[in-house]
Amino acid sequence: MATGRALAAGGHHVVLSDISPDRGEVTARDIGGLFITADVTREADVANLVSTTREKLGRLDVMVCNAGIIGPGGRITDIEDVDWSNAIAVLLNSVFYGMKHAARAMQAAGRGGVLLATTSIAAHRTVGGHAYNAAKHGLTGLIRSVATDLSPDGIRVNGVAPGHTLTPMSMQVYRDTDAARTRLSQLNALGKVIEPEDIAAAFAFLASDAARYITGQEIVVDGGWLECMNRPAIFDR
Ligand SMILES: NC(=O)c1ccc[n+]([C@@H]2O[C@H](COP(=O)([O-])OP(=O)(O)OC[C@H]3O[C@@H](n4cnc5c(N)ncnc54)[C@H](O)[C@@H]3O)[C@@H](O)[C@H]2O)c1
Repeated sequence: MATGRALAAGGHHVVLSDISPDRGEVTARDIGGLFITADVTREADVANLVSTTREKLGRLDVMVCNAGIIGPGGRITDIEDVDWSNAIAVLLNSVFYGMKHAARAMQAAGRGGVLLATTSIAAHRTVGGHAYNAAKHGLTGLIRSVATDLSPDGIRVNGVAPGHTLTPMSMQVYRDTDAARTRLSQLNALGKVIEPEDIAAAFAFLASDAARYITGQEIVVDGGWLECMNRPAIFDR
């Protein structure tokens, strides 16, 4: 939702989508955009999302694939196939569908375009469950691979890799907002809490013409968690 707001503030006409209208219909109204319900694990829903967007707005320039769930925890020996498959469907297959159908629309229009996906620090370290880590690592590969495929069409493909961010998903892990804020600031080398708007700003940049020569990349927005949280002792002298 924050990314929708940021793109609207940058002058885009925005279509928001979610499996449930509770998550987005109000924001869509607020920003003068549209809301379309879609289950992104279903290719037909994603195809409909793209074709309805083209019908209503006349064009599709930017697609952000952001849906996510935490997926199953626990040891590899205990994960049920149904839980594994559902996590991969939401986190990885959905981005394949989004990129495929948005790219077809962009190729047909011949104006280039921007495909974006939310990866994670779990694409670079194992911070989630096995399925989450595998899917997010897979997204990094998909972004690089599809960027190569679509560069002749002038379509850029990039990702944003959030660190520990205060969202409804992270609130599933913490007792309350105060506990979440305390813990999330400890998981940030800068001692701050990453808000959805911080992630949205990276998406808005990648969607903009300022990023016109950036493709096949990920911007990590993690408050230094990946690079700075294991300070070598030399810095403590
Ligand atoms: N919160 C974090 O710390 C964090 C860190 C790294 C990456 N991410 C990623 O950021 C993205 C957004 O997550 P968030 O933290 O804002 O969580 P969130 O729960 O607020 O948002 C995820 C959204 O995905 C939707 N969704 C789930 N299954 C769907 C489906 N089948 N079809 C359509 N929509 C579906 C949910 O309804 C929800 O609105 C995810 O890809 C997540 O993996 C989050």
